[in-house]
Amino acid sequence: MADGARFTGGLTATAPKGWRNRLMASSRFQTWAAWFPLTRGLVRREGQALFDIMAGFCHSQILMALAELKLPEALLAGPVTVDALVQDTAIPQDRLTILLRGGAAIGMLKLRRGKVSLTQRGAAFATVPGLSAMVRHHRAFYRDLEDPVAFFRGETTTELAEVWPYVFGTGTAIDGTTAQAYSDLMAQSQVLVAQDTLRMVSFDGISKLMDVGGGTGAFLEAVGRANTDISLRLFDLPAVAPAASDRFQDAGLSPRAEVLTGSFKEDVLPDGADAISLVRVLYDHSDTTVADLLAKAFAALPPGGRIIISEPMSGGTRPDKATDAYFALYTLAMRTGRTRSAAEISSLLEAAGFVAITAKRPLRSYVTAVVMAEKPS
Ligand SMILES: C[S@@+](CC[C@H](N)C(=O)[O-])C[C@H]1O[C@@H](n2cnc3c(N)ncnc32)[C@H](O)[C@@H]1O
Repeated sequence: MADGARFTGGLTATAPKGWRNRLMASSRFQTWAAWFPLTRGLVRREGQALFDIMAGFCHSQILMALAELKLPEALLAGPVTVDALVQDTAIPQDRLTILLRGGAAIGMLKLRRGKVSLTQRGAAFATVPGLSAMVRHHRAFYRDLEDPVAFFRGETTTELAEVWPYVFGTGTAIDGTTAQAYSDLMAQSQVLVAQDTLRMVSFDGISKLMDVGGGTGAFLEAVGRANTDISLRLFDLPAVAPAASDRFQDAGLSPRAEVLTGSFKEDVLPDGADAISLVRVLYDHSDTTVADLLAKAFAALPPGGRIIISEPMSGGTRPDKATDAYFALYTLAMRTGRTRSAAEISSLLEAAGFVAITAKRPLRSYVTAVVMAEKPS
C-alpha cells in the first residue's frame, strides 16, 4: 500500500508476478493439478485446509453452544436421547439436530439411533480442567475480533483490555470477586501448564522456589507434590495470594510453604529463594515491565540461582498455529502485553544479566513452553 495510506476496500489486486505465482493463478494449471495423480492429493488437501480455516468460526460457535449448554459435561453420565435434550435445552428438535450434527462433524459427539453420546474428544473437553470455562469466556474475545482489520489497526477498544488490566495493572486495587473469578480460571487451566512444565524442568538442586505471580498456588502445589524436599514461596498481589494458603493447607504443604503479598511493579522481590518461576506472567506485560521484573528477579537470586519462565510462546521465525494465531491475538486484545518467542524472552533474560539460557522444545505449544537461565556464579 503506497505511503501507508488508509484504504477502505482492501488492497488492490494485481496481476501475479513471478513464474510460481503465475502458474498457481492459472486456471489451466489448477485444472491440470486437480487431475494429475501426483498433485491431486495435494490440491484436495489444500482445498480442504482452506475451507477448514474459512469455516473455523462456525466450528468455534458450535463448540461455544455445546459449552454453554454444558452438554459434554451432561453426557459424561452416558448417552441421552435427542428427545430428552429437546426438553432440557429448550431448543426445537430441527434446530437441535443441526447443532448435534455439527457437534458430531467436529468430532465431539456421536449420534446413533436417536441417542447422543460423547466421543473421546468430547469427553476430554468435558474433563480437561478449565477448558469449557475458557471457551465460555471467549464471548468477550469474539466481540473484540468482530472487525478484525480495525482490531489489528488498534482502532477498537477491546473488552479484554477492560477486564484484565484491572487485575494486572492496578497493584492492590482489585476487588475480591474479580480476583476470585480470574484466579479460578487461571488455577483450572494451570493443571496442564504444571504438567508440561514439570516434564520439561528438573527441580533437582533447588531448595527454595519462589513463584512470582503464582496466583492461588496451583503451580507450586504441583511442584511441591512432585518434589518433596523443596520449600515453596508464593508471591502475588494482596487480593490474589491469600487464597494460596488454603490450597497449601488442603494439600498438606503448609509446613514448607509461605505466601507473600506485594507487587512486582512497586516492590523489590524478596530474596532467600534459589530459584524463581514466572508462569504465564511475562506475556501479560510490556517489554519495559518485563525488563524491570527480570532485573528484580536477578537481584533477588543468589549467584548460581535459577529462573524458570513458562508460558505459551510464539513460534518466532516459524509461526505456530496455537500461539501465533491464538495467544498473540489474545494478548493483543488485552493490550497490556504480548506473546513472545523463546528467542525474545532469551534476549530479555540476557539483558537482565542471566546466562546459560536454554529454551525447551514445547511438548504442547498450546499449553506452555519453557525458557530457563541462571544468574552467574
Ligand atoms: C496470568 S496469571 C498467572 C497465574 C499463575 N502463575 C498461573 O499460571 O496460573 C498472572 C498472575 O500475575 C499476577 N500479577 C499481576 N500483576 C502483578 C504484580 N504487579 N505483582 C505480583 N503479581 C502480579 C496476577 O495476580 C496473576 O496471579
